Amino acid sequence: MSTTIIYLAYLIAASLFILGIKGMTKPRTAVRGNQLSALGMFIAVVVTLFDKNILSYEWIIAGILVGSVIGGIMAVKIQVTAMPQMVALLNGFGGGASLFIALANFIDPESATHTVALVSIAATVLIGGVTLSGSFIAFGKLQELISGNPIRVPGNKVINAVLLVAALVLGGMLVAEPYNLTNVYILVAVALALGIFLVVPIGGADMPVVIALLNSYSGIAAATTGFITGNTVLIVSGSLVGASGIILTQIMCKAMNRSLFNVLFGVMAEGGETVDADEVYAGKVKSSSPEEVAMLLETAERVVIVPGYGLAMAQAQHAVRDLASILEGRGTDVKYAIHPVAGRMPGHMNVLLAEAEVPYEQLVEMDEINPQFEQTDVAIVIGANDVTNPMAREDKGSPIYGMPILNVDKARTVVVVKRSLSPGFAGLPNPLFAMDNSLMLFGDGKKAIVELTQNLKEAD
Ligand code: TAP
Repeated sequence: MSTTIIYLAYLIAASLFILGIKGMTKPRTAVRGNQLSALGMFIAVVVTLFDKNILSYEWIIAGILVGSVIGGIMAVKIQVTAMPQMVALLNGFGGGASLFIALANFIDPESATHTVALVSIAATVLIGGVTLSGSFIAFGKLQELISGNPIRVPGNKVINAVLLVAALVLGGMLVAEPYNLTNVYILVAVALALGIFLVVPIGGADMPVVIALLNSYSGIAAATTGFITGNTVLIVSGSLVGASGIILTQIMCKAMNRSLFNVLFGVMAEGGETVDADEVYAGKVKSSSPEEVAMLLETAERVVIVPGYGLAMAQAQHAVRDLASILEGRGTDVKYAIHPVAGRMPGHMNVLLAEAEVPYEQLVEMDEINPQFEQTDVAIVIGANDVTNPMAREDKGSPIYGMPILNVDKARTVVVVKRSLSPGFAGLPNPLFAMDNSLMLFGDGKKAIVELTQNLKEAD
């Protein structure tokens, strides 16, 4: 294959990656974005294999078939709630692939002789190793194969510091003595250990942030692999993944008002007073029934539905869509308020509601919906807690102070659907539940919404 054709194909692949990422920024174009990126990856893989004469086309077709079948089955079978685990696993494979390419190049005395390649090998082994083991620990926590709680290892921070220094020294030695295989094997062990010790102390609920960060690492490892093999498209795609992973990590940290340092070192927040739940709730919480809420909805002109983690747990997305259809049939204006970190992974609520075929235009982002709550008759909060907690707005001593929230308390009436007064992920009581304009509808999210819809239907 001529060099011009190869570079042209790489340029097309890189452009498809960029167009793909752009498409993924909006729900309406996300599927197309995904398809464009997949096409770009297909072109990049096939052209690279032909270019380097690595494999004959029979093997390429066989590999693509086997890989596509495995990937296709995983994509179809995976539950939306298990998506973070799958992403963790795929990140791990990415890091592992880069690690093995770097090792193969180092072991081959012909290929790794110049400094750029050697420095890239050292970086790839370190970053790829951390990504591989860190992602597998993240997968284990999310799949509940190991405890999702933060696991405190005595001296963890010192161990991490020692491992990092050792890795940097070994990386230097690897560049200085390119034919000494011992250094590279020890570096692999140190990198794998570092990945484990970095992720083990982090709680399961913070895993999405860690996964976004590991995703970024897998991209950086792919980019450094591109420098080893002289593959431009790998450098471009790896840099894109590295940059978008870091941006996503930033967005999530900002939406939780937590620094990356706090997430990585398992700190919920500095200081923060403890709030007594009894004091917040005593004698102030009003419990309601589906009949009562249905009556309220009958006269409502504007309703905003606020989904949270509990909606995903209850798998209530279809029930919610049915409720919205009934309301719309009666002439009520219905919108969904989407908080950037509602649920446990980026875009969790968007994906769930899309699965239930809720029209995209009804999903309204936090900044846009917040000024509309004052004109809202009823806000129905389903399995959301922290993302509606007014303490984040008003209580300077609160650990979640500063976290942007959905101002549901500004609506005329707020109906909160959850099973009990238990706290959410942040472990804090929520004064919203005790407000004058709040009604609690206790029960499983799906069951409560189905009953509510039945009552509304009966009233018609
Ligand atoms: P949470 O604050 O975690 O609250 C979820 C609520 O759902 C719980 O209070 C629980 O109350 C209720 N629930 C659970 N199962 C239910 C069921 N079957 N039916 C009805 N309700 C149920 O959720 P949120 O408001 O969505 O906030 C998300 C939290 O996760 C934030 O603190 C955020 O910082 C954190 N987080 C998010 C992300 C991303 S990217 N989304 C990443 C890391 C951390 P009951 O037990 O009383 O029912």
